[in-house]
Amino acid sequence: MSDATFLTDFHHVAGIGATENNGVERQAATAADKSTRDWFAAFAKERNWEVRVDGIGNMFALIDLVPGAPYILLGSHLDSQPLGGRFDGAYGVLAGLHAAERVAGSLAATGTAPVYNLAVVNWFNEEGGRFAPSIMGSSVFAGLMDQEKMLAVKDLAGTTVAEALELIGYLGTDERPELAGYAEIHIEQGRILEREGVTLGAVDYSWHTQKLDVEVLGEQSHTGATAMADRHDALVAASKVVLLVHDVTKKFAEEALVSSVGQLTLEPNSPIVVARRVHLVADLRSASPEIVAEARASLLADIAQIAKDHDIRINVNDFDVRGIQHYPEAGLELTEKVAANLGLSVRRIRTMAGHDSVAMNRIVPTVMMFIPSVDGVSHCEREFTTDVDMVAGVKALESVAREMVIG
Ligand code: GLV
Ligand code: MN
Ligand code: MN
Ligand code: MN
Repeated sequence: MSDATFLTDFHHVAGIGATENNGVERQAATAADKSTRDWFAAFAKERNWEVRVDGIGNMFALIDLVPGAPYILLGSHLDSQPLGGRFDGAYGVLAGLHAAERVAGSLAATGTAPVYNLAVVNWFNEEGGRFAPSIMGSSVFAGLMDQEKMLAVKDLAGTTVAEALELIGYLGTDERPELAGYAEIHIEQGRILEREGVTLGAVDYSWHTQKLDVEVLGEQSHTGATAMADRHDALVAASKVVLLVHDVTKKFAEEALVSSVGQLTLEPNSPIVVARRVHLVADLRSASPEIVAEARASLLADIAQIAKDHDIRINVNDFDVRGIQHYPEAGLELTEKVAANLGLSVRRIRTMAGHDSVAMNRIVPTVMMFIPSVDGVSHCEREFTTDVDMVAGVKALESVAREMVIG
């Protein structure tokens, strides 16, 4: 398949769930997610690849080269954040499909016998915007999350993962393929590669990440008739928590810790009612688990003080804690060798964002690669990567996959 065909397919998929400003809205198990899934299945079936859907909605396209052998799996995710970018995840799935087809074709053309089979995956719910936690499908596959518990997770409207998958026809029962390795390519979502003019990142480790699930319980009352001294306003206390989560980063060296509250819901959410309950999620990330632990302890102490000051209850729970993951040296060296052969510049790079490869790295030899993000922006409609960089990345993934299937 040519570079032009890859780009045509990529830009076609970017049109599914497209938003006004060049982004996509394809949250997990929505109608737009179903459309990309249908496209993925059609791509595979046109090539006579077997399609399987497992019990958490992960989709696999299997290319059988060696009867009974385990698979080298390529891929990423087709779901997006709300008003997300068209590259995050989708690029890795499209690159995987095209790289796999090229490898299968070149092995046949050269009469090379592989040791392993080849497959491509579209992981369910990497983004975790609609159903938390993120990286759900690959974590269930890797045995890091319990499938039954994840199927029971609800979105804000009360729909469960199982119901949403059933509704779009992607709650499968197929057997999961046995794996021998995993490779993923993704946009960097930061600005290191762009700043240094480097095309390929060999991802060497992922940051420690930890979320805090915070529930602020005040007392519902009238915004006009209640005396100021009598109010137990959950939103006022929650606002202080938001500021604390932002300011805690200042206790450490610049950029040593990053944090945000990205989600907040309030009840009952009426202009004339003092808020009864606020739920928010804080996301803390650092290269140092000690820094995250220190920030967490400082937040817990300050949050307890806010609860006291406002005479309300605040429950805080740890959630989605992921330790640092080091990717294997052999995969880093393979990426560097492939880059040299293709004449692409390469550097080792850490990931601060979460990826399906972080889960897969726990169970099989894993290779993770990045291509540049213009202005380093992601999880927004402005996310952008050039066609030239995308095409170079597909070639790198093809070479990596070829080496991995040959064994
Ligand atoms: C999800 O997209 C994450 O980066 O954790
Ligand atoms: Mn992603
Ligand atoms: Mn993402
Ligand atoms: Mn991610």
